[in-house]
Amino acid sequence: MFDPYRVREDFPILRRIVNGYPLIYFDNAATSQKPRSVIEATKDFYEKSNANIHRAVHTLSQEATELYEEAHEEVARFINAEGYEEVVFVKNTTEAINLVAYSWGLRLESGNEVVTTLMEHHSNIVPWEALSKLKKFKVKYVDVNGDGTLNYEKLEQLITKRTRLVCVTHVSNVTGAINDIKAISKLAHENDALLLVDGAQSVPHMPVDVKKLGADFLAFSGHKMLGPTGIGVLYARRELLEEGEPFLFGGDMIKDVSYVQDEEKVRISWNKLPWKFEAGTPNVCGAIGLMEAVRYLKRLGMENVYMHERNLTLYALERLEEINEINTYGPGRETERGGIIPFTMTGIDSHDLALLLDQFGIMVRSGLHCAQPLHQRLGLKSSVRASFYIYNTREEVDRMVDVLKEVSEGLKRR
Ligand SMILES: Cc1ncc(COP(=O)(O)O)c(C=O)c1O
Repeated sequence: MFDPYRVREDFPILRRIVNGYPLIYFDNAATSQKPRSVIEATKDFYEKSNANIHRAVHTLSQEATELYEEAHEEVARFINAEGYEEVVFVKNTTEAINLVAYSWGLRLESGNEVVTTLMEHHSNIVPWEALSKLKKFKVKYVDVNGDGTLNYEKLEQLITKRTRLVCVTHVSNVTGAINDIKAISKLAHENDALLLVDGAQSVPHMPVDVKKLGADFLAFSGHKMLGPTGIGVLYARRELLEEGEPFLFGGDMIKDVSYVQDEEKVRISWNKLPWKFEAGTPNVCGAIGLMEAVRYLKRLGMENVYMHERNLTLYALERLEEINEINTYGPGRETERGGIIPFTMTGIDSHDLALLLDQFGIMVRSGLHCAQPLHQRLGLKSSVRASFYIYNTREEVDRMVDVLKEVSEGLKRR
């Protein structure tokens, strides 16, 4: 049985008192908290094995290299990649998407199209817009419905033989809407296009299998799945990485750099996968922390993680309905959705509401959540977002609802 109270014991930060109240952390879509095992793993690395990797022959460097490579293998198994060669460590989801844009995407040209959606985080819009200015291809946007779900009719119309790449989020970071990646993959591949999946809000929260999904690229961040900040992942099918040009150049990503006297030139060949895409000294400690985070999630079971968040979300939606002044957005309760609820309260700005909640120790996000086009589409100036994870409980939801009730009563009396 999945027990969030048992899970909470592993998270030292959850014992904090904030503004006189026990901390309630509902900003998990922005970043997650870290269990003791992840904190210990990173501390252990610096205390016992710290060295650079893939360079020296000494013992510490060998140890650090082994741990770093093991982290690639652990992540590869977690998402069911063919092998560690398909797992490139980057800084975060944003860098992973930019890596696809500036390695694979540079081959795009006028007449080509990239299809993305109005529900994307800015990091899956801005790189494509920036690159399209350079390479003169078109970026097309699939519309969303009023409940935040993707408009599949529009998707079918927009994906054509001109489409070279479809870039879509697995789970919306605003509404929690879950996209049917298998169906989108089928459509993209029937049109000889590739599929990039933004897994920032899915990999931490549900079972994700790149083969079952049919993803050619998958981007996600370690810090949203119990790992440290500064470590993220780009998964790509091996052949795409083999034929792709590197994006960053320097040490460790090369096999050979030789000066050819006759030609007065340096000839360069790339290192094998995935190191070809990991130039310079990487975030070794971050990778080790991420490996521990993956192991923690695996022990819990991703199916259990998903069901816990789903049940909590359904409960929270039901409780929020008790307050007339609250409007929630996103798919209805009968539809599968991730553990994210955006809402507004009549008569109060979302930042002010978030500040009030903070005074009671409740951390939520307010604003546009790096998804301005989606807010525009839903007719929202901004929203408050409560996002859940493995350590959140019904009791915490009850406390938030109590505070919201007090706020709405207070507003009525004004
Ligand atoms: C769906 C989605 N994509 C991309 C990102 C960007 O992640 P990062 O800031 O870790 O690069 C986020 C972060 O909130 C997100 O929710």
